[in-house]
Amino acid sequence: MQKDIVVMKNICKTFPGVKALDNATLQLREGEVMALLGENGAGKSTLVKILSGVYTKDSGTIEVFGKNIPVMNQKTAAENGIAIIHQELNMCPHLSITGNIFLGRELTKNGIIDDKTMQEKTREVLNRLGLKLDPATVTGTLPVAQQQLVEICRALSINAKILIMDEPTSALTNKEIEQLFDIIRQLKSEGCGIIYISHRLEELKLITDRVTIMRDGKFVTSGDYSSFTMDEIISHMVGREIKEKYPHEYANIGNTVLEVKGLNAGRLVRDVSFNVKEGEIVGMAGLLGAGRTETLRAIFGADEKESGEILVDGKSCSINDVKDAIEAGIVLVPDDRKKRGLCLNLSVRENIALPNLDELSNAGVLDNKKEEAMAEKAVKAMNIRLPGIEAGSANLSGGNQQKVVISKWLMRDSRVIMLDEPTRGIDVSAKVEIYQIMNRLKAQGIGCLFVSSELPEILGISDRIIVMCDGKITGELSREEATQEKILTLATMFENKTN
Ligand SMILES: Nc1ncnc2c1ncn2[C@@H]1O[C@H](COP(=O)(O)OP(=O)(O)OP(=O)(O)O)[C@@H](O)[C@H]1O
Ligand SMILES: [Mg+2]
Repeated sequence: MQKDIVVMKNICKTFPGVKALDNATLQLREGEVMALLGENGAGKSTLVKILSGVYTKDSGTIEVFGKNIPVMNQKTAAENGIAIIHQELNMCPHLSITGNIFLGRELTKNGIIDDKTMQEKTREVLNRLGLKLDPATVTGTLPVAQQQLVEICRALSINAKILIMDEPTSALTNKEIEQLFDIIRQLKSEGCGIIYISHRLEELKLITDRVTIMRDGKFVTSGDYSSFTMDEIISHMVGREIKEKYPHEYANIGNTVLEVKGLNAGRLVRDVSFNVKEGEIVGMAGLLGAGRTETLRAIFGADEKESGEILVDGKSCSINDVKDAIEAGIVLVPDDRKKRGLCLNLSVRENIALPNLDELSNAGVLDNKKEEAMAEKAVKAMNIRLPGIEAGSANLSGGNQQKVVISKWLMRDSRVIMLDEPTRGIDVSAKVEIYQIMNRLKAQGIGCLFVSSELPEILGISDRIIVMCDGKITGELSREEATQEKILTLATMFENKTN
């Protein structure tokens, strides 16, 4: 039997108003991938943050390589070979890739910062992940997915023996995920133990040896991955069975609510035309970088358009900024919740109020009662887990932050709701809740357009599917005719031609 390299016992941690961990337990063995699973807010991130010295435990014990570590801080964690890739991007956006990778442990030569060696070492880890990036690139200019990969590079460069990955794939494409999994397999064969947190349960089979399941801050069960069925894993996580993972209901398809004609905006939105009808969920599939986010942003007036027409309910709308779009009845739930979706320094109540100030104000003065009522309603509608609406948004678990981002846009009357990767980082039961909300919206005659990189989700809940590749729409499939293969063929149409 492989030896335990981490043993955490009876770990408790309380935040104001929340018992995040209640006698939680975790064991990690040498050379294994251990998936740490649980619903949003179950305490996964808190537990691994304690292991990596980001948070201090209230009580409990931590043993690493058989040695009891009474006080774990970030320094002791690094000394014990523990590295963590955080759930939320944790980069200094104005620094270069090298700057980020070596932040706080810059290499020096004769007392002077040794840029050349750091650049070389950065290039080495970038190569290991198959990334063709210049180490001098300013990280803030990279797309989210690549920033995520840089974060992974940083952990690799420390030569960690215990590597924690908190939802590393939530912003990656399939190809990048494959690369990451190759790296994980390689690290495993070198004896590295990996704690892997993910809500993308379908990817677990590719790398997982063992699972540990948590619920409400407590340990539920652990065991070999192969000894559980997926349904068992889910019911341990959720505490009940989930029968229908992709609930889909047909609604009456009515008139066209959104029509996009000949939209051009930069390299990734070329002559894009499509429509969304009342009572319809249209899924936008494609690989990362296909132009899906850019298309939504151009429609929403968040990015400049070169040309094209946008019609809502048959009426041409002049949309030059986000305000025009909202007035026309179009809203967008963005993909990068930390950067674009939430004001982390504001409370949940304030975040929900922000896009709805017009509806919450009388003669320009905010009506506090209405504001509170709206926040309470949103929290209830989305089943957001928090101590109360005054909770700071920064302290919510990742999935609950995402729910706040979605809920605030659902509080107003819109005609078209666009969602960019709405279920990213969201647990199985919350995903079902979001699908049901989308079903309810379409039943009310609202047009729903959503981007997703998860094909089962696209196939599961769309009434119609649009596929993009390299800034262009390469095809459209009805729910009935769509298959993974057909979508992938359309999504890689131009790539295949050049190969
Ligand atoms: N810094 C903090 N201050 C206050 N509460 C916090 C803080 N960090 C986490 N919490 C709370 O602790 C609980 C556990 O959160 P945690 O982030 O560990 O969940 P998680 O299992 O990682 O969830 P997710 O899958 O959504 O990422 C949640 O109720 C969360 O709101
Ligand atoms: Mg988390």
